[in-house]
Amino acid sequence: MGSGKLKLAVLISGRGSNLQALIDACRDPSFPAEIRLVLSNRADAPGLARAKEAGIQTSVVDHKAYPDRSSFEKDMQKEIVESDAELIVLAGFMRVLTAEFVNLWPNRMINIHPSLLPDYKGLNTHARALADGKKEAGCTVHYVVPEMDSGPIIVQKRVPILPGDTPDILAQRVLEQEHLAYIEAVRIVARTLNKSLSS
Ligand code: GAR
Repeated sequence: MGSGKLKLAVLISGRGSNLQALIDACRDPSFPAEIRLVLSNRADAPGLARAKEAGIQTSVVDHKAYPDRSSFEKDMQKEIVESDAELIVLAGFMRVLTAEFVNLWPNRMINIHPSLLPDYKGLNTHARALADGKKEAGCTVHYVVPEMDSGPIIVQKRVPILPGDTPDILAQRVLEQEHLAYIEAVRIVARTLNKSLSS
């Protein structure tokens, strides 16, 4: 490669629309990152087809095939290291990671979460925001630390909650912002790591 681009391993479990946003961003020669590997813990994740379509290397490490988290993560680590990735990008990766694994990638793993963290960590974020009568929702890209959905925030984007919103309608409005947020966040991390086309 030799372009000085930040090498990414994108981890997914499902649809992969955030992955697609990153694939599309990487088509711009001035984008400071490239995807070296898309890894899924589910063989049936639709996002895998998006990666193959784009000619990106894929790998499946099925958590159900392992007796415990650490053996599962050991095989993931092997695949990621072999891909030469410098940054792990969690894009709808729905497995909790152990502190041991997270600590292998200090400041080198980022996650996108569909809420305005620190509000609504965990699942069903949009339903909970609606039930609380919130006026705003959004998404957060943050560095991953051992505590779930915590860690320094890189980018946050907000959307209004509108009358008649359902969790699905709100999720769609937030998702559009997620795609923008993730691209912005990768640019910021690349800059932080002194990656540019000229490096
Ligand atoms: C996204 O909304 C992402 O924020 C969320 O899963 C969805 C994945 O969609 N992630 C989490 O909830 C992580 N805790 P995608 O597969 O289309 O990118």
